[in-house]
Amino acid sequence: MNVTIRQLQIFEMVARHLSFTRAAAELFLTQPAVSMQIKQFEEIAGLPLFERLGRKIYLTEAGEEMYRLSREITSRLYEAEVIFDEIKWPQGGRLLVSVASTVQYFAIRLLAGFCKEYPKVNINLKVTNHKGLIQLLENNETDIVLMGRPPEGLDLIAEPLMENPLVVIASPCHHLKDQKNIPLDELKNEVFLMREQGSGTRTSAERFFAKNGIRISTNMELNNNGAIKLGVEEGLGLGIVSHHTIDSEVKTGRLIILDAQFFPVVRTWYMVRREGKRLSAVGTAFENFVRKEKLRFVRLP
Ligand code: PGA
Repeated sequence: MNVTIRQLQIFEMVARHLSFTRAAAELFLTQPAVSMQIKQFEEIAGLPLFERLGRKIYLTEAGEEMYRLSREITSRLYEAEVIFDEIKWPQGGRLLVSVASTVQYFAIRLLAGFCKEYPKVNINLKVTNHKGLIQLLENNETDIVLMGRPPEGLDLIAEPLMENPLVVIASPCHHLKDQKNIPLDELKNEVFLMREQGSGTRTSAERFFAKNGIRISTNMELNNNGAIKLGVEEGLGLGIVSHHTIDSEVKTGRLIILDAQFFPVVRTWYMVRREGKRLSAVGTAFENFVRKEKLRFVRLP
C-alpha cells in the first residue's frame, strides 16, 4: 500500500482523538491539511476510514483495523530507533523519562543516582502534570513515566511503586496549628489553594472531599506545588500536597502539616509505560534501578 509514514501518523492522531481539529492542533497543521491527507489515505485504501454521524466522527470497520495496525507500525518504527541507538552507543543510549510535577522532588535524586551508575546515558526529563503525562504516553513521546494512578483502558502497563501520602499544609502561625484530629467539618470553613485542572493531586483531593460530603472553598488556583507552598507560607490559605514535596519547608519550619481527620490520604505512585513498547537496554536498567532503589531517594520530613 502506497501510504506514507506521515499519512499514518496523521491518521493515528485523528483516530485517537476522533477529531480533525484536535489532530490538526497536536500536529501543528491546519484542519484542511489533515482532511486532505485522510482523503488521500482513504483513496489509497479504497474504503472510508471514518464516518460522520451528526457532529461526531467514528472509525469504520476498516478504520478500526487500520488504527490497530498503524499503532503496531509506529511502535515497530520506534523499536528500530531504539536498536539503532543501542548499536551507536553500546554503553549509553537515550532515555526519555517523564514525571509528574509532584514526583520531581524525588525523581531528580533518583535520576542523579542512576547517572552515577550509568554516566554515559543521555537523559531527557519532562516534568508536567497528570493530564500532560497521559498525553505524552498516548503520543508515544516518552519511555518511562513516574506518576499517580493512570486511567484504565489506555494500553498502559502501570506498576505500583510506593505510597504517596497527601497532607494538609498550613503556615506555622495558622489558628489550627495545635489542634488534634481536626474534623473535616472544620476544614469546610477554611480557604484552600488548589492545583490546576489536570493535576492528579487536585483530582484526588476533590474526590476525597466529595466522598465525605464536604464542599471546600478555594479562591486561588496555582499550577505547581512550589507556588502552592509559597502561597500557604504567606498565609493565603491551606494546601493539599504530597508529603514528598515539603521536605525542606517542614524541616526549616516554614510550613506545618495539620493533624486533620482522615489525613494523610494515601495515593500510590506508579511506574508507567505503553503496553507493547520495547524498552532499550538503558530503559530496562532504569526500570530495575527504580524498583530496587526507590526508597533510598525519597525523604519525608
Ligand atoms: P500532579 O500529581 O499531577 O498533581 O503533579 C501527579 C499525578 O497524580 O500523576
